[in-house]
Amino acid sequence: MEISSFDQYHQVYKNSVEDPEKFWGDLSKEFKWHKEPENILQWDFNKPEVRWFEDGQLNITENCLDRHLDDKGDQTAIIWEANDPGEAPRHITYRELFDEVCRFANVLKRNGLEKGDRVCIYMPMVPELAIAVLACARIGAVHSVVFAGFSSTALADRINDSQCKMLLTSDGSFRGKKTIDLKAIADEGLKKCTSIQKVVVLKRTNGAVHMEPGRDLWWHDEMEKADSQCDAEIMGAEDLLFILYTSGSTGKPKGMVHTCGGYMVNVTYTFKTVFQYQPGEVYWCTADIGWITGHSYIVYGPLSAGATTLMFEGVPSYPDMGRFWEVVARHKVNIFYTAPTAIRALEKADLSFVNKHDLSSLRVLGTVGEPINAEAWHWYDQNIGKGRCPIVDTWWQTETGGIMISPLAGITPLKPTYATLPMPGVQPVLMDENGQPLEKANQEGRLCIEFPWPSMARTIYGNHQRFKETYFSAYPGYYFTGDGCRRDNDGFYRITGRVDDVIIVSGHNLGTAEIESAIDEHQKVVETAVVGFPHDIKGNAIYAYVITRDQIDDEDVLRSEILALVSETIGPIAKPEKIQFVPGLPKTRSGKIMRRILRKIASKETENLGDISTLLDPSVVEEIMAGAI
Ligand code: WTA
Repeated sequence: MEISSFDQYHQVYKNSVEDPEKFWGDLSKEFKWHKEPENILQWDFNKPEVRWFEDGQLNITENCLDRHLDDKGDQTAIIWEANDPGEAPRHITYRELFDEVCRFANVLKRNGLEKGDRVCIYMPMVPELAIAVLACARIGAVHSVVFAGFSSTALADRINDSQCKMLLTSDGSFRGKKTIDLKAIADEGLKKCTSIQKVVVLKRTNGAVHMEPGRDLWWHDEMEKADSQCDAEIMGAEDLLFILYTSGSTGKPKGMVHTCGGYMVNVTYTFKTVFQYQPGEVYWCTADIGWITGHSYIVYGPLSAGATTLMFEGVPSYPDMGRFWEVVARHKVNIFYTAPTAIRALEKADLSFVNKHDLSSLRVLGTVGEPINAEAWHWYDQNIGKGRCPIVDTWWQTETGGIMISPLAGITPLKPTYATLPMPGVQPVLMDENGQPLEKANQEGRLCIEFPWPSMARTIYGNHQRFKETYFSAYPGYYFTGDGCRRDNDGFYRITGRVDDVIIVSGHNLGTAEIESAIDEHQKVVETAVVGFPHDIKGNAIYAYVITRDQIDDEDVLRSEILALVSETIGPIAKPEKIQFVPGLPKTRSGKIMRRILRKIASKETENLGDISTLLDPSVVEEIMAGAI
């Protein structure tokens, strides 16, 4: 089933959609199972219910670690590059990683964790984060990684939603010039949590931290006591592997649930196929493990494939704008996978930051997280790939678990700004507004998927009804992605962006409702409407229209209070770029905010606002336009 030519892709694709069960069933055979699955797929999108490899039994860590020990035990599994270039990198072999994971798994067990218990992980990008993730999987505990840039409130909400029993964190973290007191933030969050019984704290910054007696333990003390022998818990293929929160268009974040067997098969296959990974190559994905990209394509996919995966603790701009390229040169990276927002930021820096580094090791480039604009694509192609590295523009989601639409490196013809063609086993459909599939070429619609794939999320933790409403109700019988998409004459797909109330800022999903309710918490605020508008580097930025209770004396003071509030409630990534105080919001007679109008004003496209006659008070639009920033 290897694909080495475009013709072969078409053939494999055809086979995969004619008989998906055979396709995925055959792929599952290369893994280590305690019981090989016979029952490949059960599904019903109306319920919705999807079960892959249901009678199979496995542990994903045996596939990521144990099975490589014989022939790859001494090969580097993880290369770690610190925030500070002066700090020595770490090279961790498969055998060392295996030992560390087993030892930490024993730490978890000794502290009372059992299969099915939820563990929250709130850590910087250090190897121990990957070790923590794998140790949970080793014993069948369900990890919920929370990105370390989230605030104490966001952390507490996520811990409470899935009732985590344990928190894994560190004293602090380094990001560029900043040191962040992660433990203090975690402690603040924990004041609102009752489910956490133990906190294991890794020493990273050596800052002074409070250790709560009876609750908090040092990572290194616990590891010293732990044995490195830990048999893997045997998991059913549909047992929970992890929960990962993502923003939705309404209300609180959704805890997307991923299960063991299908996720493993799917992420391993897509990792190997998309990047055409060759044994011995160094692969670097610049995402954080706090996001799905890090789960699937820093940890599980690469390790299951026996690859060498690079983890980077820092930021692209520290100590200067050449850091990514310096790391590529230093570790002779062959495959480099990043986000369009990073490319746009680095594109603004002087080319000397690129040119002083030897990038000749690069073979494949990739992007993920948001649409890439043509200019950034060409800059990446010419200056980083030197015109000889294919760029894989990979479209997928937290919900899909793995890459869904993407070129295969060196195989699929490229077309800038296009994610090109579906992966084998993936069946995309474009829908018009009335729910009719668009069959012809050169059409734009809403992207749906009509057949299950193994790594799809199975539910929203604790809220299956919301799962059904969000993804399976707009187009009954189909999974609805929330993205708009165009298909051209060649059948190539181009993602045009979200069609719901999710805004992607610097590649991170943010729900408008979440930001609005954070701002509404301010005692001077009556109501808020938040929209996205195009931004040079971030892709989109946030524009908040805020109605205040009384006349305000100092707008700037209130603005900074609102920014601080958003930072505390969600995290700095959710801070609005612009805040405009308005006398009212454009609402329909039924009270619905017409965001379409607000989006146009924020984007400075006010020539044609469309029909505003249905507004309760059309005059408010004039007033908002007059005060636009
Ligand atoms: C967007 C990230 C265009 C899309 C893996 C999707 C993209 C959302 C691309 C999911 C791409 C992701 N081109 N848009 N190559 N990749 N997106 O859950 O809107 O953080 O729905 O998963 O990012 O973001 P998430």
